[in-house]
Amino acid sequence: MLKNEILKDLFFIERGYLNSNHFVYRSKSPTLIDTGYLSDFDETQRLISGLGVNLSDVSLIINTHTHCDHIGGNHIIQQKSGCDIALHKVGKYFIDAQDDWSTWWKYYNQEADFFKCTKTLEDGDIIAIGPHRFQVIYTPGHASDGIVLYNSQEKILISSDTLWEDDMAVMTLRIEGSMALFHAQESLQKLESLDVKRIYPGHGRPFSNLKKAILKSKEKIQRYLLDRDLIGNDLIKRILVYTLLMKKSIKEKDLFPYLMDTYWFKETVDLYFNSEYEIKYDEIMNTFFERGIIKKENKNLFTIVKP
Ligand SMILES: [Fe+2]
Repeated sequence: MLKNEILKDLFFIERGYLNSNHFVYRSKSPTLIDTGYLSDFDETQRLISGLGVNLSDVSLIINTHTHCDHIGGNHIIQQKSGCDIALHKVGKYFIDAQDDWSTWWKYYNQEADFFKCTKTLEDGDIIAIGPHRFQVIYTPGHASDGIVLYNSQEKILISSDTLWEDDMAVMTLRIEGSMALFHAQESLQKLESLDVKRIYPGHGRPFSNLKKAILKSKEKIQRYLLDRDLIGNDLIKRILVYTLLMKKSIKEKDLFPYLMDTYWFKETVDLYFNSEYEIKYDEIMNTFFERGIIKKENKNLFTIVKP
């Protein structure tokens, strides 16, 4: 775990994959950006209070999108503090409509609680976090309600799941629609001209080379456009690992039946791999065992990926 002060009193907290990275602005009326995954809330709380911020004092939560690993603490923190919660207008619509499909929660069988969204953000808005001003940039593709936050004065970009250093966040075309890859391309183009010194992604370490990261993501999109199987394989791999992170561990014999009971696994294999559920499952599990990403202990499976 890495904690650092990126601007005066604004702290970056690096998490793993089950929980997204998040931010704490320490003041009399504290602001949080993203709140981790629900089942890891105790750890999220420990990290935030470790910075001297009491959750019952929080005045505002800003979410970069409504995926479960970014909003997990929202409900509990809002119960304790009565804080405002700000989302892009698309995310506000999902939450107001209690739409747990568009947020992916139901599709991927993820844990999450609804909360009250009290503030709407739009592309171009400026939000003040204490003395720090961030521009809201709407960046759909990975998530229809995705935003990034840009501080032009200090040249800092909070890029969430729109831009990672070496890879791209999972693309769920079944929910985001057939235009999702093109939306992601346009979103990357929006970021290209920004003057940026340091980028804080939703997962992974901070980095500095904006152009290089954008190029890598654009190349990945090109590969996706040329090879649909790659989209399906990447999705199944990511969500399998995410499933093991959510469950901590699962009996080996229970995993395949569990997957067949979810919406996402069957639909993804139907969409990309000719409904060959068991073949695809075995193929992906074998590569994970070979690479040591998933391990077996007393008939239980777990992943070494950091939560
Ligand atoms: Fe996400």
